[in-house]
Amino acid sequence: MSAPDFGALRTRFPLFAERTYFATQSLGPMPAEAYADLFEYGRTLGLRNRSIPLWLERMAEFTRLLERLLDAEPGAVALRDSATAAQAAIASALTPRPERNRILYSALDFHSSRYLWAAQERRGFRVEQLRPEDGVALRPEEVLRHLDERVAVVALSLVSPRTGALLDVVPVVKAAHDAGALVVLDAYQAVGVVPLDVRELGADVVVGGTHKWLGGGGTGLAFLYVRPSLAERLQPAYPGWIGHQAMVGFAESYSPAPGSARFQQGTPAMEPIYTARAGLRFVLETGVERLRERNMALTSRMMARALAAGLPVTTPHEPERRGGMLCFDVDEGDAVVEQLGLLGIDIDTRPGAGIRVSPHPCNTEQECDRVIDELARLVRR
Ligand SMILES: Cc1ncc(COP(=O)(O)O)c(C=O)c1O
Repeated sequence: MSAPDFGALRTRFPLFAERTYFATQSLGPMPAEAYADLFEYGRTLGLRNRSIPLWLERMAEFTRLLERLLDAEPGAVALRDSATAAQAAIASALTPRPERNRILYSALDFHSSRYLWAAQERRGFRVEQLRPEDGVALRPEEVLRHLDERVAVVALSLVSPRTGALLDVVPVVKAAHDAGALVVLDAYQAVGVVPLDVRELGADVVVGGTHKWLGGGGTGLAFLYVRPSLAERLQPAYPGWIGHQAMVGFAESYSPAPGSARFQQGTPAMEPIYTARAGLRFVLETGVERLRERNMALTSRMMARALAAGLPVTTPHEPERRGGMLCFDVDEGDAVVEQLGLLGIDIDTRPGAGIRVSPHPCNTEQECDRVIDELARLVRR
């Protein structure tokens, strides 16, 4: 199959006409079609309660698209309002037992996920935060060292939002399963740029969201995959009508929906479901393998230029050990982000992560070079 013409695809993203945009790790560029979907959503608002069947149809359609993206079984993906809420739905459905009460998570994870897993201590779990020896990437053997038959959950990011490192996840899942533990993967920084086949991986739970590498418009939309046989065993601790077996049946008591839909809760925000479809379709049409290939070509080019300029790159240098972004250990992050912003270049900075830069597949090689050159100029100053 020939490589996509990313120059032609670029015209579908209005943002590129205005900005040199390298902040997909925060909010990804969205295709122009999302504006038409937003307009369509506005039209349904005027219909008031006649909009409900249309909205339910959109929800179902969007969920099927996500199942395609993840190669998931039908009914294995559910929608939530945030990745934290998705993980909370799983955490709260698990009960610590004296013989299995440990939870492992990592210092490389998203801070909100770390708050969530750390808080399970109050529910009787013994929680341990793993710190990678090199401060950048958790190696499978570092996780395996902490595994025993008392571990209930291993909760890790597939791509760290703090370093951009890609977890070598297959041996972790295998060892966790051998020890009888569940693996909850936060794949937010991976979905749309790192191919992920949840069935092949044998994942238990995978969470992600739409407004980064999937090019979704509005915020407030995330999802979770739950392995069907696991979903059937788990009872939501905080159920709601959108997770009921008969969603619009208005039953007196709760019966969980089959599959992972049981982890849905109350009335969802509809706007992001409308405005995330175009980005998700773009990813599906282009293909995650090809997006990954393009991203690797651009990040490798940026990495080589950054190293030649003496920039302190944190992200692993080997392409197969990183996700879609590059992180730089730069203290004066806010000032650099501001200065680049004045030049029309958007990146971001986070405490503990330094400066984060992500090429979108539709960025050009020239843009990549310019971003690194300007970054080097500002950091040297
Ligand atoms: C790895 C990772 N997980 C999760 C999130 C978002 O979580 P939530 O949807 O709970 O805000 C982000 C970024 O915002 C992230 O980088």
